[in-house]
Amino acid sequence: MKTTVNGCTMAYEDIGSGPAVLLVHGFPLCRRMWRHQAKALVEAGYRVVLPDLRGFGESEASAGPFSMSVFADDLVGLMDRLGIEKAAIAGMSMGGYILLDLLERHFSRVAAAGFVFTRAGADDEAGKVRRTQAAHAVQETGPQDLIESFSRLLFAPQTATRAPELVAEVKGWMAAVPRRSLAGAQLGMRDRKDYSERLGAFDLPALVVLGERDGIVSAQEAEAMARALPRATLCRIAGGGHMANLEQPETFNACLLAFLHKALPGRPEASQRPLQQRD
Ligand code: MLT
Repeated sequence: MKTTVNGCTMAYEDIGSGPAVLLVHGFPLCRRMWRHQAKALVEAGYRVVLPDLRGFGESEASAGPFSMSVFADDLVGLMDRLGIEKAAIAGMSMGGYILLDLLERHFSRVAAAGFVFTRAGADDEAGKVRRTQAAHAVQETGPQDLIESFSRLLFAPQTATRAPELVAEVKGWMAAVPRRSLAGAQLGMRDRKDYSERLGAFDLPALVVLGERDGIVSAQEAEAMARALPRATLCRIAGGGHMANLEQPETFNACLLAFLHKALPGRPEASQRPLQQRD
């Protein structure tokens, strides 16, 4: 489905019924990364909303840079459009950076927060320089280097041999992202705020999920986040990479569902509706 939010055409799915759960993908990915979670959550009695962030998946590629606030405002605009006052929101990696911004400015719209393979800190100076260089390189010479380096970092070391088709599929998603979106999001992440000292203000049910073989976010960063959030549960995925929700969907789903069942009261009996679009 598509709708226009803040002047940009956004693609999304809105499936199932029950308390709303919004799942926000990471960089440079798309909503398809949540397919195993969407199915499990709908079957468990939740309404699941899966947006493609502006510039990614099937959403329109507006001009960057894309600040985390621009993405967060798009998500709130989509919730308005769908009549969702409050949702549990889970963000993976860059999706988590966006969720932090959204919590700061739209706290009342979040029933529970899921931080998936993400961190609260900003980039250090060397990291900012790397983001600027990556943005320029993508624009000038194309995305191939960025795609190759990300596809090595996104998965646990064993995934390339155990599930080469998964790696190839995700590379295909990355290759489809327009250059200006890749560059725009790199610059937006470069300039994101540091929330490490502000997590204490986010007093709501929170989940922090870490992959023990994550090549992008360290266990220390995720653990620090779980310690600093007032009401966080930490879930570790042994052997999991930065995309452990796709590598080990059953383990990941068990974590997410246990959290949601506690955090979101009022869930109806498990929905009988299969994966279908809202009318
Ligand atoms: C992501 O997975 O969204 C990105 O790797 C985050 C980042 O580059 O910091």
